[in-house]
Amino acid sequence: MLRKRSPLIICGAFVFVAWNVILFFVLMRRPSTQGALDSPDELGNKGDRAGGDQFGNIMNEVMRVANAFEAEIESQKKILLQIQSHWSVWENKGGVTAAKSKSQAEHSAPVVIPILVIACNRVTVKRCLDKLIEHRPSAELYPIIVSQDCGHAETSDVIASYGSQLTYIKQPDLSDISVPPQHKKFQGYYKISRHYRWAFNQVFNTFSYSSVVVVEDDLEVAPDFFEYFRALHPILKSDPTLWCVSAWNDNGREGFVDPGKASLLYRTDFFPGLGWMFTKDLWAEIEPKWPASFWDDWMRQPSQRRDRSCIRPEISRTLTFGRKGVSLGQFYDKYLRFIKLNTEFVPFTKMDLSYLEKKKYDESFEKEVYSASVVTVEDLQSGKLTGSGPFRVQYSSPDSFKTLARNLGVMDDLKSGVPRAGYRGVVPFLFRGKRVYLAPPAGWSQYDPSWS
Ligand code: UD1
Ligand code: MN
Repeated sequence: MLRKRSPLIICGAFVFVAWNVILFFVLMRRPSTQGALDSPDELGNKGDRAGGDQFGNIMNEVMRVANAFEAEIESQKKILLQIQSHWSVWENKGGVTAAKSKSQAEHSAPVVIPILVIACNRVTVKRCLDKLIEHRPSAELYPIIVSQDCGHAETSDVIASYGSQLTYIKQPDLSDISVPPQHKKFQGYYKISRHYRWAFNQVFNTFSYSSVVVVEDDLEVAPDFFEYFRALHPILKSDPTLWCVSAWNDNGREGFVDPGKASLLYRTDFFPGLGWMFTKDLWAEIEPKWPASFWDDWMRQPSQRRDRSCIRPEISRTLTFGRKGVSLGQFYDKYLRFIKLNTEFVPFTKMDLSYLEKKKYDESFEKEVYSASVVTVEDLQSGKLTGSGPFRVQYSSPDSFKTLARNLGVMDDLKSGVPRAGYRGVVPFLFRGKRVYLAPPAGWSQYDPSWS
């Protein structure tokens, strides 16, 4: 195998050098507008300067070519590094395969799970991308696609600076969307929805992936983010009662989650979003009716959800740092900024996750929740209860749910009748170190979408 290597490398090096020579001449001849990455402002400034002194112009031109050349060399270097790492992966595989039994070698290749990053006009997308790249175990198995809306030049520069570490695409329609007058202030939600539709179509139709993990530009991912989604991928594919896997626990604030249970996962009827995986089949189902705005609440409606659940973790694998966003910051200040990000790497792909299978899960969940003793909020607050629980606090109406949730410090909103992080109406969380289930009476059979 090693003998084959040298002609291949010589050939590669030749192509590389030839490519750079061609590139150099192309760059030399290119007019000074750089195309897609330039903002109209920058172009305007360049126009204003056009009448300046000739020497200055020549120097500017030389500098421009030099900068462009430097950037190109930098991206070429990255490509070479990638070729190098591909090579070593390939070599390792070759070595291992030879030693392995035939049946093991016939194992199918691991599935590629692309990460779609939704960006707009925040340069802080850097924090999101840096963490994704830092924790990404393989660029081949997790290609990052950044889709940018909004045409914001500075953000565009940030994304472009990652070169071949990611694929950069741009939502082409930046026009305003005509919205009903009372929705004028919600224009942003319309644009988000348009962007999502376009980006998902790119992932599934243009790039032909069979599933995707979507993250927004204000999310930071945990060290085992990739491990989590890889482990859940086969479960999502095979269980028709699941329609998503999310990295987010809506009640995942410090103190409300068990720090000793980083590996614990749940089923939830609430669509959490905020770092979530779904399949091409689901996209084919919902794309034709994709809404003009408020896509996440639309997902939470019964006609989309169709009684399907998502998997979510005890401790979130994403954290949101986007205080300034389309929705204003109050919600962020009150809740979102306190959501705890998991720090401990959990080897999910090596664990038995069959407890999440619906029949098994429902049986043990019902037993766990409804064999817990019923207590009041006052009991919990008094600190007189002994043991670590679990305890059950019961609600019977939207009003009692809201009051209890508020008193216990968990999210009190219901979307299409479903409480955040809830499963079969039950919201699990920790209260002063004790496991608590905020639950409807036993015998729950369905949600009431009029509860809001
Ligand atoms: C909230 C939700 C978000 C959801 C959105 C739409 C939380 C914490 N956030 O957005 O998950 O997608 O409502 O219902 O619950 N963006 C565009 N084009 C625009 C404006 C924004 O593509 O014109 C992108 C942003 O880059 C970002 C996403 O849309 O990735 C959400 O925007 P953001 O400003 O963060 O809004 P939130 O209020 O967090
Ligand atoms: Mn946001």
